[in-house]
Amino acid sequence: MHNLTQNYKYSFSSCELLNFINNNDTPFWVYDHNIIIKKIQLLKKFDTIRFAQKACSNIHILNIMKQNDVKVDAVSYGEIKRAILAGFIPNNNDIIFTSDIIDKKTLSLVTKLNIPVNIGSIDMLHQLGKCSPNHKIWIRINPGFGYGHNKKTNTGGDNSKHGILFPEQTLDIIKKYNFELVGIHMHIGSGVNYKHLKKVCNSMFHQICTLNQNIQYISAGGGLSIPYKTNEKEIDINNYFQEWNETKKKIEKRLGHSITLEIEPGRFLVAESGILVCQVYSIKKTNLFKFVLTDAGFNDLMRPVMYGSYHYISIIAGDNRKINQENLYDTVIGGPLCESGDIFTQDNNGNIMSRKLPKIHVGDYLIFHQVGAYGSSMSSNYNSRPLISEFLFTEKKFKQIRRPQKIEDLIQLEQKI
Ligand code: LLP
Repeated sequence: MHNLTQNYKYSFSSCELLNFINNNDTPFWVYDHNIIIKKIQLLKKFDTIRFAQKACSNIHILNIMKQNDVKVDAVSYGEIKRAILAGFIPNNNDIIFTSDIIDKKTLSLVTKLNIPVNIGSIDMLHQLGKCSPNHKIWIRINPGFGYGHNKKTNTGGDNSKHGILFPEQTLDIIKKYNFELVGIHMHIGSGVNYKHLKKVCNSMFHQICTLNQNIQYISAGGGLSIPYKTNEKEIDINNYFQEWNETKKKIEKRLGHSITLEIEPGRFLVAESGILVCQVYSIKKTNLFKFVLTDAGFNDLMRPVMYGSYHYISIIAGDNRKINQENLYDTVIGGPLCESGDIFTQDNNGNIMSRKLPKIHVGDYLIFHQVGAYGSSMSSNYNSRPLISEFLFTEKKFKQIRRPQKIEDLIQLEQKI
């Protein structure tokens, strides 16, 4: 069988995986504990690593972060609850709530638990101030430019709803409510281009000089990209760290005291640890394409449909035959959903793209790689399809870390109202 591994070697062999598949219902997610640990180690030079849990918010994954001294970012009431369940301590700088709006329920939770809030709008400042004066806050600055692997993940500039574009407007309000401004945060987008790195660092320095506040933390945000295609390279973390560390030193000199440098990655820590396993149920041809249809759809993995994202796909034979990697065929991979766009091989404009893949039979298994980030966490119940199982490969075993949803779980929400 073809080596499943891309840039990181999985801790399980393809035979172990096949054995596991044979005893379980597809589709399901698997995360490799060791790969997450390796990715955390790469960022250890930063004073604080804060996991953007929106990438993968299973409490067992959050617990791995906690065990390895990684803190957590939460962007909703639900993410705060998850963080607490995973063992993070609310008033210990373990959890920061980042958002551009704060609803009533979340406002009362952050107030009660004293969770620092990373403020993304002026309205939010007033709403928090009325409820919880003296609160510990960060300001999320929109530096006026951004970048992303897709325009939907660019979070800076005039097209972005995120962050505060004119941070000097916050100063009077901060005084009014006697907020404790502890940090400045900048996240220009997801899947950043390193040409922008110097620009972001310079902007952080200049904003802090202009604001002239005695802050204790800066956050470089998330956005670190990972190689999705085999010809893509890992980013140079040392270079990334050096640029930020020099910025930190410049700011320390200016403020006259030391500060803490945070980084807030989601994708970088978990993407490569995750796979999605599904089975082929039908193969059909049109005059243009060969469609291979699986039991996983965009309700499970949404990235290809939402952004035209590429995920490497490998095949495990369902009948023990050896997969011939030499002869490749133009193949389109789709899911079971009642929607034409339920295609995993498409570009950013929704055009169907064939992929050169070995011959696939009905009954074979397909593995989608690098889906640990924004895979499961973006799944939905479209077409009344329940959420699928998640497993963690740890201590040489596949351990279930989420049971599959049952259709009854969904239906129950609508009954006995
Ligand atoms: N910090 C903030 C404030 C963010 O908004 C995000 C991502 C991150 C950190 C983490 O970014 P990362 O290191 O994962 O790039 N669903 C998209 C990605 C959306 C990212 C949203 N914010 C995808 O599947 O590519």
